[in-house]
Amino acid sequence: MHQPHDEMADDLARRGYSRRAIGRAFGLFAAGAAVGPLVASRAYAQTSAVNPHAAMGAAAAPKAQAAKVHIGANECWTGPLEPGARAAAEAVATGNRYTGSQRDDLIKALASVENAPPAYVTPWAGSSDPMARIIVTYCSPTRGLVTADPTFELAESVARYLGAPVKRVPLTADHAHDVKAMLAADPNAGVYYICTPNNPSATLTGLADIEWLLANKPAGSIVLLDEAYIHFSDAKPGVYLAAQDKEIIVLRTFSKLFGMAGMRLGATIAKPSLMTKTMRYDGFMASYALPNPSVVCGATSLLQADLIAKRRAEMERVRKTSLALLDKRGIAYIPPRANFFMVDWKKPAADVKKAFGDEGVEIGRNWPVWPTMSRVTVGSAEEMDVFNRTLVKLNL
Ligand SMILES: Cc1ncc(COP(=O)(O)O)c(C=O)c1O
Repeated sequence: MHQPHDEMADDLARRGYSRRAIGRAFGLFAAGAAVGPLVASRAYAQTSAVNPHAAMGAAAAPKAQAAKVHIGANECWTGPLEPGARAAAEAVATGNRYTGSQRDDLIKALASVENAPPAYVTPWAGSSDPMARIIVTYCSPTRGLVTADPTFELAESVARYLGAPVKRVPLTADHAHDVKAMLAADPNAGVYYICTPNNPSATLTGLADIEWLLANKPAGSIVLLDEAYIHFSDAKPGVYLAAQDKEIIVLRTFSKLFGMAGMRLGATIAKPSLMTKTMRYDGFMASYALPNPSVVCGATSLLQADLIAKRRAEMERVRKTSLALLDKRGIAYIPPRANFFMVDWKKPAADVKKAFGDEGVEIGRNWPVWPTMSRVTVGSAEEMDVFNRTLVKLNL
């Protein structure tokens, strides 16, 4: 009998994957649910590695001295919104039962909030997992990835791991994705990855630019729009482009504003034909076998418009106090549109990170292209108070 794995191997071979790369693709998905959490772990977020070996190695590495204040991994400072947490607790109490309508309810909730047809929504255990699947599906040795520099590196890590060519394109002067340069860098790429708000710059790429890329990109390619931090920004989401049947896959996660990074929940929104190919790689198992507590927590949380707005306002209020301190001390930063900001210490960021770490404050890392800048995640008011005081103590 023709097995799904045969079909996957045939498809990869047809698209020019070497035997070694096919083995790696199998390895990625054989690791199954383990891949997503590994690459999205705090250890991953702290690693400047651009290959998943290093990322996975880092996840397994011994922990450095435990910090008291964790503002380095772009997590939310607190757990799920209260109604979501309550729904999750109820789902734990009935955890002896297999899944019923919970997954459908999540799809309905996301579709209604985002104004997209339910058939366009696919739930996942976070967004790292579908991101890896989408790269395997749309990239190959002949259809590469175009990404920004700096940006979140997972798409690049997977593409490199599989032997697909990668082009990194610098951000524009105002830190948007340079879509024209991205297309020029590889006019025949398989995936154009856009992260907005971008990690690590916390800056937006305009929807007009994304529309331009969609109108001009080559046939058979997709735009992968990563909106992990969209709820922490005031930007209009790009989901309407998926609802208009454009060749775009929107990635969403509950790991950020919804405070569910450890609960592993995310979704893709795209016209179904774009996802069909992606499901071939054991996607149905991965999308259906989700824990009920996470699914009901996500579905319930999505509908809490007031609490979402309140959480974002709280982040903005706290962020303002740290930015005001930076202004006062003449320290440069990139004006942020999300729950993190890049600070330019004008000296090696690794040294500053270590100095903060020695004070029990774990700030984020730098990206190789910006060696003097650190990414700082907006924590709770108390945590940012410690950050602010430590910054003064370190005489920065
Ligand atoms: C831009 C971006 N996309 C995706 C992810 C993956 O997150 P998760 O797999 O938890 O959804 C992250 C994690 O930090 C991120 O920063």
